[in-house]
Amino acid sequence: MEAIRCEKLFKTYGSGANAVHAVKGVDLVVNTGELLLIVGPSGSGKTTLISVIAGILPYEEGVCNVFGKEYRAMDEEEKTRFRKTNIGFVFQSFNLIPMLTATENVAVPLLLNGIESVEAETRAKTLLTELDLSDKLQTSPKELSGGQQQRLAIARGYIHEPRLIVCDEPTAYLDHKTGDMVMEILKKKVLNKDRAIIVVTHDPRIFSYADRILEMEDGQLVEKEKRVPLPQSS
Ligand SMILES: Nc1ncnc2c1ncn2[C@@H]1O[C@H](COP(=O)(O)OP(=O)(O)O)[C@@H](O)[C@H]1O
Ligand SMILES: [Mg+2]
Repeated sequence: MEAIRCEKLFKTYGSGANAVHAVKGVDLVVNTGELLLIVGPSGSGKTTLISVIAGILPYEEGVCNVFGKEYRAMDEEEKTRFRKTNIGFVFQSFNLIPMLTATENVAVPLLLNGIESVEAETRAKTLLTELDLSDKLQTSPKELSGGQQQRLAIARGYIHEPRLIVCDEPTAYLDHKTGDMVMEILKKKVLNKDRAIIVVTHDPRIFSYADRILEMEDGQLVEKEKRVPLPQSS
């Protein structure tokens, strides 16, 4: 099934002489069951593209259709509702809430979806334990290392079981072993036939997890190389 369809998608910041054309006519189809990697140099438009696909940034021209819904046809309220159930976004800068504990941060998407707080925290703790953070459940994000904060951000990105998970450089702060652990979870446990994952990365260590790799170059996507999918674990 088709998860994402972008056609001649354009996103520009500012206008006139100050305009920055960050996404310049992107065509992209991502199917459910697919883990797509997007690579490319800094400033090539990767974060902008995935932010548009996640419904976080508006776009000026073209089509951006996610699970059969066109963002441009939704008002702000509809878009917010659509995003909180269907989209998980792992920010490069984490965007964790410093006043909340690790568990509370991860529980946020469940609370937004109306899950009762005891249940939300129980599920958050389970996920954090799976990510090797069982001794940090009550810790504030500012007392955690970069790698630990990154894992919190990743847990928050998929705890509500969104149909699309978008991750901006999710392994940048992780050592090899932890990066592998996170990608294993995303690929083998989180990804399924109803769901798609897009990962922006500079990290060649995780290329082998991709079903497909595309390269962003100056606001446009080009095919990089095909990868053989990893065997599914049973
Ligand atoms: N909020 C913004 N306002 C103006 N220009 C921006 C903004 N965010 C990104 N840009 C510009 O858009 C281009 C693409 O940026 P970005 O999507 O962050 O690229 P990447 O993620 O590949 O590094 C760059 O030239 C960047 O400077
Ligand atoms: Mg970026």
